[in-house]
Amino acid sequence: MNLTIIQLSEMHLSDCVELDQNSSNGLWSKSQWKKELTDPKRICLGILELQTKKLLGLCSAWLVIEELHITFIAVDPMNQRKGIGKLLLSDLIKRSKSLQINHIFLEVKQNNEPAKAFYNSMGFKTVGKRSNFYQDGCDGLLLKKELITNYKLNN
Ligand SMILES: CC(C)(COP(=O)(O)OP(=O)(O)OC[C@H]1O[C@@H](n2cnc3c(N)ncnc32)[C@H](O)[C@@H]1OP(=O)(O)O)[C@@H](O)C(=O)NCCC(=O)NCCS
Repeated sequence: MNLTIIQLSEMHLSDCVELDQNSSNGLWSKSQWKKELTDPKRICLGILELQTKKLLGLCSAWLVIEELHITFIAVDPMNQRKGIGKLLLSDLIKRSKSLQINHIFLEVKQNNEPAKAFYNSMGFKTVGKRSNFYQDGCDGLLLKKELITNYKLNN
């Protein structure tokens, strides 16, 4: 499978809504996705199958000074566990470094074991817990990845 990662724009609106529905039960409305795709403070990346141009994965994040807050990440259910999520998040991390971002944050449902395993494999650490964070009463975990490396010299 040949893949490419691109910055998504409004022309991908219906693909984003469809992937959101298929992977995440429609977390956001069409108008929320439109805002996501057009606001300059947000980064919205998609991973496409080159030949068909099908959107296989999608992540979205907000830039807040030197922090990046990931608000959405999902891979087409038929194509999960093939390394697509890892490719997408690695690309976002690479772009974040070039934008002088120091930390990346995100929230994950405490009972979302696949996502927790995924973020753990990408070097995210749990730094907080938010009780009743989700509409269904589920707790949220706050995860963080540091992008700055601290070096210490022996003296
Ligand atoms: C979370 C999600 C984006 C991961 O994407 P993916 O493309 O399937 O993940 P990858 O194939 O890149 O997996 C990378 C690593 O993450 C871990 N991982 C991913 N899915 C996992 C699962 N279901 N169970 C255990 N570990 C998992 C593994 O360590 C995996 O490496 P490996 O396959 O070599 O063992 C995907 O499962 C998804 O879209 N879930 C539904 C939406 C969602 O929950 N989003 C997160 C909201 S916070």
